[in-house]
Amino acid sequence: SLQIIQTVRELESVLNRDFRMGKTVGFVPTMGFLHEGHLRLIETAKEHDDIVVMSIFVNPAQFGPGEDFESYPRDLENDIMKAEKAGVDILFIPTAQEMYPSDSGIRILPGPQADVLCGSKRPGHFDGVLKVVLKLFNIVDPDRSYFGMKDAQQLALIETFVRDFNLRTQIVRVSTVREEDGLARSSRNVNLNASERLEAPSIYRALLIGAENFDAQKSPQDIEREVVELINSNTSGEIDYVTLLSYPSLTAITKDSKEVILACAVKFTNTRLIDNIIMSTK
Ligand code: PAJ
Repeated sequence: SLQIIQTVRELESVLNRDFRMGKTVGFVPTMGFLHEGHLRLIETAKEHDDIVVMSIFVNPAQFGPGEDFESYPRDLENDIMKAEKAGVDILFIPTAQEMYPSDSGIRILPGPQADVLCGSKRPGHFDGVLKVVLKLFNIVDPDRSYFGMKDAQQLALIETFVRDFNLRTQIVRVSTVREEDGLARSSRNVNLNASERLEAPSIYRALLIGAENFDAQKSPQDIEREVVELINSNTSGEIDYVTLLSYPSLTAITKDSKEVILACAVKFTNTRLIDNIIMSTK
C-alpha cells in the first residue's frame, strides 16, 4: 500500500538497499493536481518497474515573477487517493523548506534548447526545472523516470541533461493524454472560464491541420501562419508562439530532421496552455 513520505531522510531510509534488492525503481515527478495524464505515467511506470515512486512538489524555482505559483491548483487529499488507487508505492511530498533549505547560489544553465518556445517566454523556467529534477533524481535514484510529451521542451531538455551529465536514470517518453474533445489534459485547465474551456479544443484542431500541411510539404512559415490564424479566429486567447522545429534538438528544420515538433502556447484570462504534435519525417 501507499507510503507517504515528506523528508529526504525518510525517503532514503525507506528506499534503502534491502528494499530495492533485485527490484527496479520507476519515478514519476509531478506538481500534483493529478489528472489522467499523470495517471498514464504511473501506469507506464508500473509496466516497466517493480517499485513506483511519485513526487508532488509545486517547485517555486520554476515559476517566474508574475507567473501562477500562488494560483497553481492544489488538492493534496484528492491526489493521495488517486495515487493510491493508481498503485503508487511511495509518494514523496516535500515542503519547499525541505527541498531548498538554503541557497548556495549554484545554478544550472540550460543550453540553447531553452532559448526557444516556452524558454524564450519564461526566462529561468528551465533552470528551475532542471534544478529540481536533478535533486529529485539524486534523492530517489530511479532506474527509469517517466515524462509526458505534453511538455515536449521540458522532455527534450531533460533527455539532453541526462545524456550530457551521465545521470544514471533512463528517461521514458509518454504520449499526451487528451480530453474527449482533444484538449490536452493539464492541471491548469481548471483555470479556464466556461467559454474558454469550449474554445480550447481548437488549439489541438489547429495543430492537426498544421500537421496535415506539414505532410503536404508546405513551408514552416506557411504552416505556422495558418495555425496562428486558426487559433486567433477560434479562440479568445492570445498566442505566445506557434513554432515548427526539429525535435528534440529544437533547432530549425533541415532536410536531415528526423522528427519535428509543431508547438504552441496560448494565454487565456487566468492561465496559459501549451500543446504540441511531434511528427516523424520518414
Ligand atoms: P506537471 O505539470 O505536474 O507534470 C508532471 C508530468 O506529467 C510531466 O512529465 C508532464 O509532461 C506529464 N503530463 C502532464 N500532462 C500530461 C498529459 N496530458 N499527458 C501526458 N503527460 C502529461 O512537468 C511538471 O509537472 C514539472 O515541471 C516537473 C517535471 C514535476 C518539475 O517540477
